[in-house]
Amino acid sequence: MHVRLLKRTILILKINRYLKEITNMSDFLPAAQTSDLKDGEKMLAEVDDRLVILFQVGADYFCIDDVCTHDGGTLSDGEHAGFEITCPRHGAKFDIRCGKAMCMPATQDTASHEVKVDGDTILVKISQ
Ligand code: FES
Repeated sequence: MHVRLLKRTILILKINRYLKEITNMSDFLPAAQTSDLKDGEKMLAEVDDRLVILFQVGADYFCIDDVCTHDGGTLSDGEHAGFEITCPRHGAKFDIRCGKAMCMPATQDTASHEVKVDGDTILVKISQ
C-alpha cells in the first residue's frame, strides 16, 4: 500500500514539474523576427495586447513598455542611443535594459520585459 502511494506521489511531482516547465516556456511570446531589427535600431511591437519597444544593441535584444511614466508619452517616438531612450514630450530618459527612469521629469521606472531569441524569432515574456 505504501509503495503504491509513494509511486503515485512521485508521478504527481513529475507531472507538476513538467507542467511548470511548459508554463514557463509558453510565457514567452513571439514579438518579431531578428531580420526586423538591426544593431542600434528599435521597433514597436504588440505582445499579448501590450505595446512594447524592442531594441537591438550589438547581439543583445531588450524590451520595455511603450509608455513614459511621467505622463504617458509614447517612448517609441523618442530618440534612442546606446542603452537610453528619451521621451519626445518632456525629455525623460529611460534605460532600455531595465526600464529605469534616468532623469526628471520621470520618477518611476517603465516596465521591462525578458527577451530571448529562438532561431530567427525574438520572444518576449511580458512582466506584470
Ligand atoms: S510624458 Fe514623457 S517626459 Fe513627460
